[in-house]
Amino acid sequence: MKILSLTANIEVYENVEELNHADATLMEAAKKSMEDAYAPYSKFKVGAALRLKNGKVIIGSNQENAAFPVTLCAERVAIFAAAAQYPNEAIEALAITAKSGSRLVDKPVTPCGSCRQVIHESEYRFKQPIRVILHGETGEVYVLETIKDILPLTFDANFL
Ligand code: THU
Repeated sequence: MKILSLTANIEVYENVEELNHADATLMEAAKKSMEDAYAPYSKFKVGAALRLKNGKVIIGSNQENAAFPVTLCAERVAIFAAAAQYPNEAIEALAITAKSGSRLVDKPVTPCGSCRQVIHESEYRFKQPIRVILHGETGEVYVLETIKDILPLTFDANFL
């Protein structure tokens, strides 16, 4: 028996002001998009904004439903919209943010497992890592060079 140790390299910035211009701009778009989330049930609003290789920015926000499981996360709304409109454009970067109706989100929001898998599918499809920028309402910002940092031992088409 041996132990397989997994490590992740996550850049931690003290606040959004520390981000470079491109990351800060994308996060701003995510925050704007968050305001339009349809989250009457959870009151947890999530915003996402991604930048394609052609420079276009596509936004997404969570879309809830009275039939709860039908809800779609902000990240997947943005990624699927981008894939539908620009099927041949790789995603360069994705910013995600959230705010809660009941408490201050003071640490970076991290994508759910299903969204991590979808983000990874896009990396796999275009053979290009996606820079992922994560923030709450205040506090630190996490930046990942690839979703693999928070989705180790990834399942992909190589297994099929
Ligand atoms: N949500 C997202 O939009 N993205 C995530 O990665 C996690 C969760 C949404 C789904 C639901 O509308 C609300 O947040 C509470 O789970």
